[in-house]
Amino acid sequence: MNNDQFKISHCETGDGDEIFALEGKCFDRPLTLGSIKQMIECSDTIFLKAVVYSKFENNAEFFNKIANGKAATDGESEQKVGQKIVGYISLKIAIDEGEIYNIAVEKSARGRGLGSDLLNNALKEAKKRNAKKVFLEVNQNNNQAISLYLKNGFKQIHIRKNYYGSDSALILVKEI
Ligand SMILES: CC(C)(COP(=O)(O)OP(=O)(O)OC[C@H]1O[C@@H](n2cnc3c(N)ncnc32)[C@H](O)[C@@H]1OP(=O)(O)O)[C@@H](O)C(=O)NCCC(=O)NCCS
Repeated sequence: MNNDQFKISHCETGDGDEIFALEGKCFDRPLTLGSIKQMIECSDTIFLKAVVYSKFENNAEFFNKIANGKAATDGESEQKVGQKIVGYISLKIAIDEGEIYNIAVEKSARGRGLGSDLLNNALKEAKKRNAKKVFLEVNQNNNQAISLYLKNGFKQIHIRKNYYGSDSALILVKEI
């Protein structure tokens, strides 16, 4: 996916099925389609998606195609421009506090900064909505997610023992 283009934007109700499919690939105990759709529609929840565009030699070629109203193809599948969601984040706001409910990036797109981009876009939006702090909980053994959060300024404030069966949950917070 080296030459792919990504764009982060707000989810719409119609994105529910694709998010649900990705959720199923990323989590052992995925959320239901109904709860995903509910969150997308809830005005207190910031729900962002990262959409991947197909491969092009450079940005100019890519944007020319779009300007000319042509769909991009990646040479293998006839995929419409902007139709593939490869990541998402949901963050719920309650008065002046936020809570990250979920974040996931498709396996093939990981390790390229997309998780950090989604996180920082959601935090920016939370700040605009007057949140002062954002909390989250993460399985103590989820090293990739913990690195993502620590790298982006979250600090551990609490451990909930055996929260996920025999695994504990770390509670992290970031002031924004
Ligand atoms: C957590 C997750 C969203 C990170 O997405 P991502 O796009 O890979 O994130 P980034 O590329 O921004 O990486 C951020 C940091 O995560 C860590 N990281 C990424 N890939 C990693 C890997 N394979 N091994 C260890 N750490 C890794 C690194 O610290 C990385 O920072 P660096 O690239 O500067 O070293 C992704 O791994 C994922 O979807 N996991 C499954 C779902 C999940 O567990 N969600 C969290 C629930 S609390």
